[in-house]
Amino acid sequence: MNRRREAILREMGLGPLWKLRRPAQQAPQAEASPQPVAAVEAAEERGAAIARMDLAELAASAAGCRACNLCQARSQAVFGTGDPHPDWLFVGEGPGADEDRKGEPFVGQAGKLLDAMLAALGLERRRKVYIANTVKCRPPGNRTPEAEEMAACWPYLARQIELLSPKLIVALGKPAAQTLLAREVKVGAERGKLHRYRGIPLIVTYHPAYLLRNLTDKAKSWEDLCFARSTLDGGNGLQ
Ligand code: URA
Repeated sequence: MNRRREAILREMGLGPLWKLRRPAQQAPQAEASPQPVAAVEAAEERGAAIARMDLAELAASAAGCRACNLCQARSQAVFGTGDPHPDWLFVGEGPGADEDRKGEPFVGQAGKLLDAMLAALGLERRRKVYIANTVKCRPPGNRTPEAEEMAACWPYLARQIELLSPKLIVALGKPAAQTLLAREVKVGAERGKLHRYRGIPLIVTYHPAYLLRNLTDKAKSWEDLCFARSTLDGGNGLQ
């Protein structure tokens, strides 16, 4: 490991690197709960329109979206940022106050930690990396997005992933993991396993904002990122 990487790891509060775990089998996805027929049809129609958009159209559509209440308090939608042909896609929860102001994901304190994590992996946010969120508009008071808000925003993220076609996805925290796995998730139970989203390797880890409050889990998060790196490099025999 070179000096710069060691310094970054120290800054992240990380000790020695941990040994990578062997991936476990992906658990089956839960079935979606039933919804009224009219709501399903409306959602399908909207989803079908979104599913035909290119990345620019998608960003423009998200900017004007009024599909849930989060549009009311936002300054702007925060669509996502990065390399349009990424190896890595990081999916967070939703924009906070800084992101709402700047229009870019992860630019506050949690973003600084994410940047440090990227740097420790030898990555930068705009080179081979794309960063997006589960919801594109800021939940008031930085609360966790509601299930309906995540469901309303899902067609955007789904199309974003389809268009970006990343080699690997990292779900940062529970809302992202639950959205991508379409089931209830406990991050502590799902990290260390190789999941898949539509065939794309998916790794679940802690959200950087959680890590800022729970310093002892930073080492686990680093372990997860090393697992992601070795998966991407074909080192887990499952590529
Ligand atoms: N937290 C997130 O989940 N996303 C952001 O963009 C910023 C903070």
